[in-house]
Amino acid sequence: MSEETLYERLGGEDSIEAVVERFYEHVMADDLVNDYFEDVDMQRQIAHQTQFISAVTGGPVEYTGEDMRTAHEGMGITEPEFYAIADHLDAALAEFDVPEEDRETVLEEIASYEEAIVGA
Ligand code: HEM
Repeated sequence: MSEETLYERLGGEDSIEAVVERFYEHVMADDLVNDYFEDVDMQRQIAHQTQFISAVTGGPVEYTGEDMRTAHEGMGITEPEFYAIADHLDAALAEFDVPEEDRETVLEEIASYEEAIVGA
């Protein structure tokens, strides 16, 4: 019997995209971090973030953006900013009724990129 992947439990790429759209609504409403996204093409950002989360949760999806260090290089992102963004993702997942255990797994996966993103 094959186990469902986290990607499948999240509902696949369309559901993940809906979560990511909600996630960036939270990000854009947060004055601690929204300046970073002022000149960013958010449609492209949502597309790449959806691919990224799909790929790291075991989905058959190719991530076509930059690697995490290159994507955030020179931004001077701090640890509190990193955790603010991670919290917004957690909140968006919770709004889509993703159970706590799966939310924790997604957040652990994301936290593994902290070193590449913070202070890059
Ligand atoms: C929490 C973990 C994070 C993940 C998984 C993540 C993921 C990503 C991804 C997939 C991209 C797209 C790269 C591309 O299009 O090539 C991106 C770009 C970006 N990220 Fe993050 N990110 C994270 C944290 C942050 C934080 C904390 C900030 C700022 C406070 C931030 C600001 C940005 C900005 C401004 C871009 C757009 C770069 C551009 O297109 O010019 N990210 N991120």
